[in-house]
Amino acid sequence: MNILILGSGGREHALAWAVQQNPKCDRLVVAPGNAGIAQIAECAALDILDGAAVAGFADEESIDFVIVGPEAPLAAGVSDALTAAGIAVFGPSAAAAKLEASKAFTKEICDAVGAPTAAYGRFDDLDAARAYLADRPLPIVIKADGLAAGKGVTVAATPEEAEGALTDIFSGVHGTAEVVIEDFLRGEEASFFCLVDGETVLPIGTAQDHKRVGDGDTGPNTGGMGAYSPAPVMTAAVETRALEEIVRPTMAEMARRGTPMRGVLFVGLMIEDGAPSLVEYNVRFGDPECQCLMMRLGGQALDLMLACAEGRLDAAQVHWAEDHAICVVMAARGYPGAYEKGSVISGLDALPRDSRNMVFHAGTARAEGRTVAAGGRVLGVTARGDALAEAQTRAYAMVDAIDWEDGFCRRDIGWRALS
Ligand code: AMP
Ligand code: GLY
Repeated sequence: MNILILGSGGREHALAWAVQQNPKCDRLVVAPGNAGIAQIAECAALDILDGAAVAGFADEESIDFVIVGPEAPLAAGVSDALTAAGIAVFGPSAAAAKLEASKAFTKEICDAVGAPTAAYGRFDDLDAARAYLADRPLPIVIKADGLAAGKGVTVAATPEEAEGALTDIFSGVHGTAEVVIEDFLRGEEASFFCLVDGETVLPIGTAQDHKRVGDGDTGPNTGGMGAYSPAPVMTAAVETRALEEIVRPTMAEMARRGTPMRGVLFVGLMIEDGAPSLVEYNVRFGDPECQCLMMRLGGQALDLMLACAEGRLDAAQVHWAEDHAICVVMAARGYPGAYEKGSVISGLDALPRDSRNMVFHAGTARAEGRTVAAGGRVLGVTARGDALAEAQTRAYAMVDAIDWEDGFCRRDIGWRALS
């Protein structure tokens, strides 16, 4: 079959890498892709936020199946446009993508079914938000409601920080004038990934992300500086509770409302004493969590995504090895603040590239025959092994063999699982 993947990050490189290992994949196109993806697939220029353009392209190129990587095209209705054109798609409708696009929507669904999540208030008025805040304990979590690329959340330790976050939101810096104020949840965070075909929920793995830029979880938040899978805190008992108390009831409620979720549900959990609470839903794979999951799933990822899109998850099975994967993100110096583009990266061609060692490209380009940095997060150096420590050693050996003066990475990815 002919397959189109939408996106241009490390997540999409990992998806492409897994998909092209499956014999069902005859032709693979990625739009827009990046320099690493171009080594394993055709790259096409396309406005991936324009549903009509994507459906038209898929039709012209005889695409049988479209996999949507990031959230923005989903929230913009690209999946709906493909479905209307009769093209199979992995990724939810815009209506179901509200689970990610609107924090207030997800909170309301949790309330409707009694799923455990932090107590909250929702406001579109600054004075009402201030009045609510006055009675809540600190720390308190202030969230701009909408897709803010992970930058709309403040964990405020003092009343001044909370006030600053509120004034930012109501002055429009996140492009929304709605706020969700949540009680702070204590515990350990983990990401739980499930395929959902409207009815059946199939768990496909767990991971932990490292959001802060610096070693020891210091410095500002980023899109993610590294990840590993599985997450030890997600024991079988915690997974069962998350499914029974949170995921299945909320997915049943989405179906009952006529807006079933179809695609991958990224369940952000806080776990305290074995009890999971929902922090957030995303309706796409995490980046860089996806790099770890694809390393562990390999070519079967395509079969699972097809079964999901075609409503056959009740008969689908995940074949697991008892293995571990880790992804170390190399970023451009300055990230998540301002950074330069264009610095040369060498040493990549000499690295092992097999089912246990991969460098996924996130923000790279080719210039004069060389690979150059073209983004904030640039490479996802990923390794799989029987033990996490072994995978970590191999991932950092690859990092050390990459010659990129303007790049940096955290040196402690995996610490929580290894300590
Ligand atoms: P979100 O975009 O909702 O996932 O929030 C981003 C990050 O903020 C999460 O991954 C958590 O680390 C933190 N966070 C969000 N909500 C809470 C909460 N209620 N309690 C504690 N930490 C939170
Ligand atoms: N790594 C976190 C995310 O993809 O949202």
